Amino acid sequence: MTVEPALEARNLYKVFGRNPRDAVRRLQAGDSRADVADAGTAAVIDASFTVQPGEIFVIMGLSGSGKSTIIRMLNGLLEPSAGDVLVQGRSIDRASAKELRDIRRSSISMVFQHFALLPHRTVLDNAAYALEIQGVSRDERRRRAREILDKVGLGDRAEAMPDELSGGMRQRVGLARALTAGTDILLMDEAFSALDPLIRREMQEQLVELQQELGRTIIFITHDLNEAMFLGDRIAVMRDGRIVQNGTPEEILTDPANDYVAQFVQDVDRARVLTAGSVMAPPVATTPVSAGVRGALRVMRDLQVGSVAVLESRRYIGSVTDRAVVRAVKAGTTDLKSLVGRAQPVVKVDDPLTEVVERSVESPIPIAVVDDENRLLGTIPRVTLLAALGNVAPQTTEIPIIEAPVTVAAAEFAQTLAAVGEATGSSAGQASAGAALATTAAPDTAATEGGV
Ligand SMILES: Nc1ncnc2c1ncn2[C@@H]1O[C@H](COP(=O)(O)OP(=O)(O)OP(=O)(O)O)[C@@H](O)[C@H]1O
Ligand SMILES: [Mg+2]
Repeated sequence: MTVEPALEARNLYKVFGRNPRDAVRRLQAGDSRADVADAGTAAVIDASFTVQPGEIFVIMGLSGSGKSTIIRMLNGLLEPSAGDVLVQGRSIDRASAKELRDIRRSSISMVFQHFALLPHRTVLDNAAYALEIQGVSRDERRRRAREILDKVGLGDRAEAMPDELSGGMRQRVGLARALTAGTDILLMDEAFSALDPLIRREMQEQLVELQQELGRTIIFITHDLNEAMFLGDRIAVMRDGRIVQNGTPEEILTDPANDYVAQFVQDVDRARVLTAGSVMAPPVATTPVSAGVRGALRVMRDLQVGSVAVLESRRYIGSVTDRAVVRAVKAGTTDLKSLVGRAQPVVKVDDPLTEVVERSVESPIPIAVVDDENRLLGTIPRVTLLAALGNVAPQTTEIPIIEAPVTVAAAEFAQTLAAVGEATGSSAGQASAGAALATTAAPDTAATEGGV
């Protein structure tokens, strides 16, 4: 199914100066921004991107990189020097002045950094302002504004005047006004930058919630990478007028297009951006519960790991450690299910690493990543978690699977296997590729000691 993009920028250029046409021609021929400085300031150079309905698309870059210029071209406030903008498939370039006004009013609304509230009107009337311009009746627009004010947490301040509000509240009124307008597309230029960090974070979370609830398309501009990473379904990184990378937060974090982007992402709060799914390793050490204690032991021995995930009807029911198994066998228990014990910590693919860290503190066992049916999709050993947070290996696929160290000696393993009726024949050592990791010939030696 193809859905019409909400917004599309096609090879957009904006040059401020005496001779934009000439500058664009030279840029298209390969001249740099500095080369064309005599003709004007190349604020935006060959920017193309597509924003799907319901997406939060973030444009990020340092001051002066061209972010505001792009967003002003998107809603027709600035005319591109070259290229075109399509709003829900409609070309702005070919639109008449009236059509342009129409698009602006019905499809796009904008929230600025310092939202200019009308000082002599109540919060409610400010929020309803866009509807007033659209000619909506007083009762109807107040009803709709009230609904949105409730959503942004200002339902009880509807009759207040703007100067009675804090900065964060005022920004929320600005957001409410843009939302009340009912347009599908919301442009937000540094909308949260003036807020203090705590309120800013609250607003970010609220925006994500509102977006999920209302399904609007949002273009969000920021120079704060953490904000970009938290909000963005996709992020375009700008530098000197050009989009140097366009990708998901994870792509940008784990596979930066160049040194500039890499430097940018150094300070990102990875725990908030990366998800369990992005760092998990394939589930290797698993055993069906039907294989019993014996099966679990064999997997741990062959793979040289200290724990194994136990599956029942392919659902994850928990993990057992080698220690627990050895202890249980000594005590005469061989039923694997009884060893799994109480519920083990699990996470979902989309859970942020912060969640995984919490679980990992509770349990030394690799954290299981499961789907809604509790099927095991992967595991996150502590070492992998630390590597991801510390960015030791930027490519998640390259992070080696390092399980917790084996805590039970090979000889004890063999004895235990023997105790549960497993003959540790010579073929056992070749049972899996993991066995190649075995450091010594311990299993063989042990076999003679503990043989049946
Ligand atoms: N009206 C204008 N006339 C001349 N130059 C302009 C104009 N508007 C922007 N510029 C220049 O274009 C470049 C990009 O500016 P823009 O405002 O798009 O940057 P920005 O990424 O939004 O920066 P900030 O983060 O500081 O808001 C800058 O060099 C700026 O000086
Ligand atoms: Mg700007």
